[in-house]
Amino acid sequence: MKVNGEHIQSIWYELETDEVCIIDQARLPYDFEILSLQSLTDACRAISAMEVRGAPLIGVTAAYGVYLSLREDSSSLDWAIKSLSETRPTAVNLRWSLQRMKESLEGIEPSALAGKSLETAQLLEKEDIAVCEAIGDNGLGILQALWTKKSESQKCLNILTHCNAGALATVDWGTALSVIYKANNAGIPLHVWVDETRPRNQGASLTCWELSQEGIANTLIVDNVGGHLMQSGQVDLCIVGSDRTTILGDVCNKIGTYLKALAASDNAIPFYVALPISSIDFTIEDGLRDIPIEERDSKEVSEITGPDSDGIMRTIRVASQGTAISNPGFDVTPAKLITAIITERGIHEATKASLKRLLQ
Ligand code: MRU
Repeated sequence: MKVNGEHIQSIWYELETDEVCIIDQARLPYDFEILSLQSLTDACRAISAMEVRGAPLIGVTAAYGVYLSLREDSSSLDWAIKSLSETRPTAVNLRWSLQRMKESLEGIEPSALAGKSLETAQLLEKEDIAVCEAIGDNGLGILQALWTKKSESQKCLNILTHCNAGALATVDWGTALSVIYKANNAGIPLHVWVDETRPRNQGASLTCWELSQEGIANTLIVDNVGGHLMQSGQVDLCIVGSDRTTILGDVCNKIGTYLKALAASDNAIPFYVALPISSIDFTIEDGLRDIPIEERDSKEVSEITGPDSDGIMRTIRVASQGTAISNPGFDVTPAKLITAIITERGIHEATKASLKRLLQ
């Protein structure tokens, strides 16, 4: 991803100082700061406090968390895996990545565990970049075909996205935004409608920032606007990411995704989900029944934080004290509302028959 014209990843390992570096996403877009992770505690905090977030990035951070733990204590593997797996419940990439770490460390001498875990975490980091770039390449054809149809009657393709499924949610490129970056690089004129994504506003604070850094036109909208834009012909396509997708093609993603998919279906607007295969939970069928939905702090709903006109961060209440609050972080979009799923291995129908082939 580009930040002030320079290429940077959301996470990387610094060999000279033996530290793991992340962009502190809890401070964006107001401050751009790099944080150093030095211990298992740091890695767990980074995930829980959403200094890193987004399913693939959570997975890679957890992999480095295992290394940071084994570097201190070669007998801490089980504890590290347990602690990291409890940081956030919904994104399956966390479990997937910890499983990859565990498998790669089987039969390794205690003295070699730290070295091997670093090697595997670096491999997962590299794989994530390649996978996300391939998702973009595979999705590009969809946007090219749509642009061929629309270019005579409009100046650009209007795409709606929800939350942040960009480079900030992965190591680089992103999933949904990778498709957008590839289309932009291919010269397709684009404009992106960005849902603010209450309560944590990842759309407002991360996606708009990321797209603007890449020079892609974007407009921030509150979460309730998408349906109106779709009805009035101002959206050509929706594209989102996923935290966990079932073998039947039900997609769990940031709260509010389902309502956008309903509106898209009602208006015959294609609704795509871009995801790495590591986000598919092949062990479950029914997303509503089987995916644990994170219930988050009620203060995310009752309060809002940002800089005042003097740049001082302030938190204010938007509901009276004592108001009852429910704050589920994710919802499940049924497969029937999804046009197709874009993965690193091509485009698939949101059906068991199609997704099962990815196991081969
Ligand atoms: O709560 P977050 O910010 O971790 O939620 C992120 C999302 O919902 C993304 O859309 C999802 O992880 C896909 S990211 C490539």
